[in-house]
Amino acid sequence: MALYSEKVMDHFTNPRNVGKIEDADGVGEVGNAKCGDIMKIYLKIENGVIADVKFNTFGCGSAIASSSMATELIKGKPISEALELTNKAVAEALDGLPAHKMHCSVLAEEAIRAAIKDYYDKNGIAYDKADFPDPHDEEEHFTEED
Ligand code: FES
Repeated sequence: MALYSEKVMDHFTNPRNVGKIEDADGVGEVGNAKCGDIMKIYLKIENGVIADVKFNTFGCGSAIASSSMATELIKGKPISEALELTNKAVAEALDGLPAHKMHCSVLAEEAIRAAIKDYYDKNGIAYDKADFPDPHDEEEHFTEED
């Protein structure tokens, strides 16, 4: 069996929503200290809905495919739904990732969260801090072997 699904290969070779939104309402940047990969997500938010989303990922193929799929999954959705997007849902939508590449999909979940938090912070919107744990407190993201 191929290591990567056709969907992973498709989103890696033809990633959707690559780029930058100059007047973004929220920007989130996260990295994985272990592999050194970095993901940046830009959000345009209108009436509580993700009107547009773009990403730049300096990272592995799985991280690029995860960013691409994650942006597709949240585009046009309310913020509340974007916040519920888990890395597992991203990996499932890609028809799976190898176990040692699951951490790449975690970056997508974290980057979206960070961008929404940035939007809340910039607009003085109150939120429950428990919904935005500092990813660096969660050791598990950095323990997987690559
Ligand atoms: Fe670092 Fe995939 S995100 S190896």
